[in-house]
Amino acid sequence: MTLLIDNVGELVTNDVAIGRGPLGILTDGALVVGDDGRIAWVGLRSAAPDADQRLDADGHAVIPGFVDSHAHLVFAGDRAAEFAARMAGEPYTGGGIRTTVAATRAASDDTLRANVARLRREMLRQGTTTVEIKSGYGLSVADETRSLAVAREFTDETTFLGAHVVPADTDADTYTSLVCGKMLDGAAPFARWIDVFCERGAFDVDQSRAVLTAGIAAGLGARIHANQLTPGDGVRLAVELGAASADHCTHLSPADIDALGGAPADGTTGTVATLLPGAEFSTRSGYPDARALVDAGATVALATDCNPGSSYTSAMPFCIALAVREMRMTPAEALWSATLGGARALRRTDIGHLGVGARANVAILDAPSHLHLAYRPGVPLVHTVLLDGEPT
Ligand code: NIG
Ligand code: FE
Repeated sequence: MTLLIDNVGELVTNDVAIGRGPLGILTDGALVVGDDGRIAWVGLRSAAPDADQRLDADGHAVIPGFVDSHAHLVFAGDRAAEFAARMAGEPYTGGGIRTTVAATRAASDDTLRANVARLRREMLRQGTTTVEIKSGYGLSVADETRSLAVAREFTDETTFLGAHVVPADTDADTYTSLVCGKMLDGAAPFARWIDVFCERGAFDVDQSRAVLTAGIAAGLGARIHANQLTPGDGVRLAVELGAASADHCTHLSPADIDALGGAPADGTTGTVATLLPGAEFSTRSGYPDARALVDAGATVALATDCNPGSSYTSAMPFCIALAVREMRMTPAEALWSATLGGARALRRTDIGHLGVGARANVAILDAPSHLHLAYRPGVPLVHTVLLDGEPT
C-alpha cells in the first residue's frame, strides 16, 4: 500500500538537494511513502505521482520525526520532592541517582516495562519517532542486564550506562573493573552503545577511558556524559576515542569547543555535541554555549535527557523552544539538531530526514511552519505521527 501525503504547506526535508536552505524546505510539497515504509518520492505537489491512499496535510507543516538520542527511560519511582527542593534553592549534584537505583532494583520487570511504554507513548505523541534508551539505574550485573533487555523491547538504540555512579557499597576502581568485566559481558548482547558519566563524584577521565575502551573492544559504540556539572576532560576524551557523541557540554573550555568543531559528524564518523537544555531548565543551571559550538563547526544535536532526576521531560518541542530562547540557536538550527543532528549522534543515515530512501518517520504539525515549535512554546502542535509510514 503506497501513501501520498499531500497539501503540505511547508515540507522540511533536511535534504539540501531537495529544497531551500539548511532544512531543505519545499513550499506546497508532497511525499509518497512506498510499500516498504520508506520515502519513495518527494517534491512539489503539482508533480506528485498517484498512490493507493492520500493523507491531506491541510496546508500545514510536515517535518521529519524527532530523533531523541539521549534518554534514561528504564527506572522506577520519581523524584518530585527533590525537584521541589531544588526550586527552593538546593543544588543538583547527581546524588539523587542512588534514590532511583533503589527504586529500580526493587521494581519488577513489568513495572519497568510499563514505565518505558508510558514514556515512549508520550514521546511519540510529541513527534519523537526514534529514541535512544540507557540503562544506569541498576548498577549490578543482573539489574543492568535486565534494564537493557527491557530497553531493547522498545528500541535498537540501547546504551549500557553501568558507569552512571559508583554504588554505595564499593569504591570507584573496584566498580569500574566490574563494569568493564562481568557487567559488560551481561549487558553487551542487549546494547549498541556504551556510556559513562565522566564527572567529579562519578567517574574520572581514566576510569571513563577504561569503560569506553572496554565497550569498544566488545563491539559497542562510545558516547559519554561530559562536562555537565563541572569543566573536565570528558569532551576531549570523546573526540580522542572517536565517540559518536559528547553529551551535555555545559562547561566547555575553548579547547573543548575547538575539539568538537574539528570533529564534525557525517553519520558515520565524528563526534556530535549533544545538548540537553531540559537538564539546565530542571536544575536551574546555566545553558551550554550552543552558538559557540555551531560557529566553530561542531555538529550539534538536541535531546531530552528524559530521566526522573535532572530532566523529567519527554518533549522535544520543549527542548527546541529552550534551545532557541535560552541557547540562541535559530529555530532552523534547533529543528535540524532535534532531527538530523540526533541521527548523526546515533550514526544513522536512514532517519532524521525525508529524502528518498529514508524511513517515513514523519510529524504533521498543527501549524503553518516549523517556526511555531519555538514561537508557540508549550502548545501541543504535533498533530499526526507516522512511523515507517504507519499512523501511530
Ligand atoms: O544525564 N548525569 C547523569 N545522569 C543524568 C541524571 C540522572 C539523575 O539525576 O537521575 C543526566 O542528567
Ligand atoms: Fe543523561
